[in-house]
Amino acid sequence: RWRSLVVTGAATPAPFRPGLEGVPATQSSICDIDGQRGVLTYRGYPLDQLASSSSFLETAYLLIWGELPTTEQLQEFEQEVQMHRRVSFRIRDMMKCFPSGGHPMDALQSSAASLGLFYSRRALDNPEYIVSAVVRLIAKIPTMVAAFQLIRKGQDPIQPRDDLAYAANFLYMLTEREPDPLAARIFDACLILHAEHSLNASTFSARVTASTLTDPYAVVASAVGTLAGPLHGGANEDVLEMLGQIGSPDQVAPWLDRAIAGKQKIMGFGHREYKVKDPRAVILQTLAEQLFDQFGHDPMYDLARKLEEVAAERLGPKGIFPNVDFYSGLVYRKLGIPEDLFTPIFAIARTAGWLAHWKEQLGANRIYRPSQIYTGQPSRDWQPVGAR
Ligand code: ACO
Repeated sequence: RWRSLVVTGAATPAPFRPGLEGVPATQSSICDIDGQRGVLTYRGYPLDQLASSSSFLETAYLLIWGELPTTEQLQEFEQEVQMHRRVSFRIRDMMKCFPSGGHPMDALQSSAASLGLFYSRRALDNPEYIVSAVVRLIAKIPTMVAAFQLIRKGQDPIQPRDDLAYAANFLYMLTEREPDPLAARIFDACLILHAEHSLNASTFSARVTASTLTDPYAVVASAVGTLAGPLHGGANEDVLEMLGQIGSPDQVAPWLDRAIAGKQKIMGFGHREYKVKDPRAVILQTLAEQLFDQFGHDPMYDLARKLEEVAAERLGPKGIFPNVDFYSGLVYRKLGIPEDLFTPIFAIARTAGWLAHWKEQLGANRIYRPSQIYTGQPSRDWQPVGAR
């Protein structure tokens, strides 16, 4: 798929690679993916260890500041985040004007950008500004996601509860009920799994935006817009719809054959980096099973497993296996979360990764300005409208 065209005008001619596949666009010490072995590490720590033993806020601290926090550092970070969870009544009023039928990702992108109206000073060389922006974004993004959910149902958003930890508080703000501790713990692990994944499309977007030295709220807003697409974060929503269309396990094989013959992409399958099953999908599957053991089975899980099994024969030889989006929807469904909030939840988690990349980009900034291969008309003269 790599074309032999050569970029003209660049200092060193480079081959054109659609989608920048295989092209290093930055140096980064945040996260490493071994796509052949299915191993993912954050700052050197294996993801399965973080998912089973860390918390989302501890993992966010690790991603953004490079090392696991001490007890005091973690307490301070947790307290700061807790203190900044509330959003201004002006933002809540603005959200009340959003159409209730609009997608929550659009609501989130607009509200994240609106934070820049309140806090943008662009003091990017001031470490305190960096800390305050990190804390505000990590604290307020979940509040805004939960607020839109209640607002679109015609209710007033509820205030965060200071006695609840990050994940439990989000579920509380969303459902107006204090969650079961296991559900909160599993949700927290889901946030860890989605927190970072190197230079994916939304993170690349974040870094490009960051490289202009704009404010961090614009950085996160641009990344949210990129995450929304069905080839990226939006796929988790489509997976459940696809499973619903398939209907029953005996329909899996004929449905898949038709889909492959029609060159249809199977949602929740395939990844630019992984040629084996995505390690996040492996962990999410275990979390889904824990939830089903505690709160009752979901027949859609049987369908998903059957699809994975049949797809392994048909798509496995091409290196196409379940990605992170394949089982996450089943977990969120069991937690009672509406389908169109799956991607906003992904955004809550990925805000940690985006901010880690924002900070890293500022540390060695050079504005992104790639070149292009011009394929348009040669130079020609303008004609008056009557002569065209
Ligand atoms: N179903 C069927 N075939 C697939 C799939 C899939 N999900 N993914 C890739 N393929 C096939 C392509 O048709 C292509 O086959 P061909 O060479 O015979 O034409 C080959 O595998 C390579 O596919 P590309 O689209 O070129 O792979 P790319 O690396 O560009 O795409 C992507 C990766 C976008 C994730 C793709 O696999 C896809 O669209 N998957 C479905 C959507 C999805 O689940 N997205 C979530 C990804 S994870 C995340 O962003 C959080």
